[in-house]
Amino acid sequence: MTLDSLQLLFFKNYDDAALRLSPGLNCFIGDNGSGKTNLLDAIHYLSLTKSAISASDALCIKQGADFFVVKGTFTNDNPANQEVIQVSLRQGQKKTITHDKQPYERMADHIGRYPAVLISPYDTDLIRQGSEERRKYFDSLMAQLDHEFLELLISYNALLRQRNAVLKQGVGSHGFDREYLLALDEQLAPLGQQITALRAAFLAEYLPIFQQHYQQLADGREQVTLTYKSQLVDADFAQLLRLNERRDFVLQRSTTGSHRDDFVFLMEEMPVKSHASQGQQKSFAIALKLAQFELLAAKQQHKPLLLLDDIFDRLDDKRIARLLELVADETFGQVFLTDTNLERTDQALSRVTIPIRRFRVSNGTVAAV
Ligand SMILES: Nc1ncnc2c1ncn2[C@@H]1O[C@H](COP(=O)(O)OP(=O)(O)OP(=O)(O)O)[C@@H](O)[C@H]1O
Ligand SMILES: [Mg+2]
Repeated sequence: MTLDSLQLLFFKNYDDAALRLSPGLNCFIGDNGSGKTNLLDAIHYLSLTKSAISASDALCIKQGADFFVVKGTFTNDNPANQEVIQVSLRQGQKKTITHDKQPYERMADHIGRYPAVLISPYDTDLIRQGSEERRKYFDSLMAQLDHEFLELLISYNALLRQRNAVLKQGVGSHGFDREYLLALDEQLAPLGQQITALRAAFLAEYLPIFQQHYQQLADGREQVTLTYKSQLVDADFAQLLRLNERRDFVLQRSTTGSHRDDFVFLMEEMPVKSHASQGQQKSFAIALKLAQFELLAAKQQHKPLLLLDDIFDRLDDKRIARLLELVADETFGQVFLTDTNLERTDQALSRVTIPIRRFRVSNGTVAAV
């Protein structure tokens, strides 16, 4: 599957931009702040219906404008069969996404159909930030691989919101509705237990692929692993909910459940966050993403779009060379990369034989060179 063309209207720092893309490698070259990452983010929108960077959709509307549109034309094996995906948002309204002009009823129905993997300087946030970041990352990947997991997560989160609302009501004048809480818990418990089982099974599949990518990138120097931490492993969630009811009531939130799980990143059995060097952390994050790519590619029978943001700035020459070997031997399908320096990009890509198209990005405009 390839993205043949991309069109933006009032998206971030672009007014109106249109690009015809190469099915091979697309390089976006420009100065800092010119709009390179914004182009990758637009592609991320087409794939995952949201920004990889901005906290809210509204922030993606160009300052001073009142809507944005991102439109992409995809082709599958047969170039005659084009599919048009369009994401648009008008200030103060609901975001819409259409497939060949047909709106999806739910964003969730689009997730996983046009997979993309972004490797970016922000990836090390997965290591440095709290458990929520890691949960979101693995949940998003699992949701792309397994639609039922996505549905399960949506139901769990809806029940959890209702449960927390009941706990908050406790301090209000009407008191705390225990009957309702028990009814919610009865539905929540099996969902939490299923989420835990699926996360554990997923990690067992993901781990060896991740380890292999890390070993390749880092030349096998250090041992890395991931473990899954959940209160619900070997425990009965329904029982935990009852045991913690008093505390939840006092704190006005649910203190046990799948929403408290974490994924622990280890290097030589020590936490990556505190013990790995910056370069090791970067490699760790890239290996997470390469494993993601491999699983998505295997599941979907077509390769995800690969978005490489600023990789030349972040990796030493050996690691860049290993990543580009993967580009060159067609491990990846269509690739989009950004850099500030055209000569450096050309030099790094001198041995890549797949078709390359270069674009000059300058202050919210983009043109093929
Ligand atoms: N909603 C918006 N309206 C107008 N401009 C925006 C909006 N959102 C982001 N921008 C601007 O887009 C510009 C380009 O951002 P982008 O991250 O794409 O740059 P870049 O080319 O990747 O730069 P770098 O080389 O530093 O990574 C930034 O200066 C940012 O302020
Ligand atoms: Mg950038």
